Amino acid sequence: MRWPSARARDRRSSDLPGDGASNLPGDGTSGRSEDERPMRGVPGCVVTLEDVHVRLGERDVLRGVDLVLRERRIGVVGANGSGKSTLARLLNGLVVPTTGRVLVDGLDTRRHGAQVRRRVGFVFTDPDAQIVMPTVAEDVAYSLRKVPAGAARDARVRDALEARGLADHADHPAHLLSGGQKQLLALTSVLVTEPDLVVADEPTTLLDRRNTRRVAAELASLPQQVVLVSHDLEIVSAMDRVLVVDDGRVVADDEPGPALAHYRRLVDDDLPSSSVPATALRPPAATQVRESRGAQDGTR
Ligand SMILES: Nc1ncnc2c1ncn2[C@@H]1O[C@H](COP(=O)(O)OP(=O)(O)OP(=O)(O)O)[C@@H](O)[C@H]1O
Ligand SMILES: [Mg+2]
Repeated sequence: MRWPSARARDRRSSDLPGDGASNLPGDGTSGRSEDERPMRGVPGCVVTLEDVHVRLGERDVLRGVDLVLRERRIGVVGANGSGKSTLARLLNGLVVPTTGRVLVDGLDTRRHGAQVRRRVGFVFTDPDAQIVMPTVAEDVAYSLRKVPAGAARDARVRDALEARGLADHADHPAHLLSGGQKQLLALTSVLVTEPDLVVADEPTTLLDRRNTRRVAAELASLPQQVVLVSHDLEIVSAMDRVLVVDDGRVVADDEPGPALAHYRRLVDDDLPSSSVPATALRPPAATQVRESRGAQDGTR
């Protein structure tokens, strides 16, 4: 089997994600790792953030974040641009702190990026950023590229595809899958390396409601620890713990009920009743289009 070009490998590598920023120079390791670790009883990590600040360009993106993450299901919510993706990327060393440090099971992400990424798998919003091989099975096998080719590796690929309901698509062109199937493939290609922690950054944002439910159910059923960044408050409400990020800080850290109530208050406070957008008072879009067309062609 031929592996993809260096350019495609870069897209696949978690060090050089295709859909976002990294502040790493690139340590030559892949976020998709072979699995040489012994299996553990319960997959999970303890991730510690100590007074973490992240400055990207001219902007202080995260400011003074202190966290110990050990719950099985952790949700992250917050407004656009608040720093959620940056926080998520810190957890597997895709972004390293400008000051402070992040430890994954005691490993400093700044110095042990490759080992950290063996423990922490990352699912991006856009699965196309992660899919690099022509067929579904080849794409999953790519994650195991350092495992010697043979029956054992093929069996792992097959088992992983079966577990996500993709076995019938093994030989299909990966890029012809539906959006939901692509996200399941991206998840499969992460899970086949058996990470202890799966970090997913808005994995359902591009999906319709049905596929959103499907991907959410897959994430919910994983034995692994999961950190999920999402704007879908229904999914996040099923987590064990929810972090609310606002303007680079974690402003609430609680069970879903109180954390999401805090988040809703935050959003509502930004929208004083006197500033209800004029669009909210306008007639439905179809009426607007008819009216605007009418104005242009002189029929009204
Ligand atoms: N490489 C970069 N250089 C400069 N600024 C950046 C860089 N990456 C992110 N930022 C800025 O940092 C802020 C936080 O970005 P981040 O992607 O973490 O937000 P987010 O909460 O994930 O937003 P969204 O909900 O839109 O995905 C944004 O204002 C963004 O423009
Ligand atoms: Mg984001």
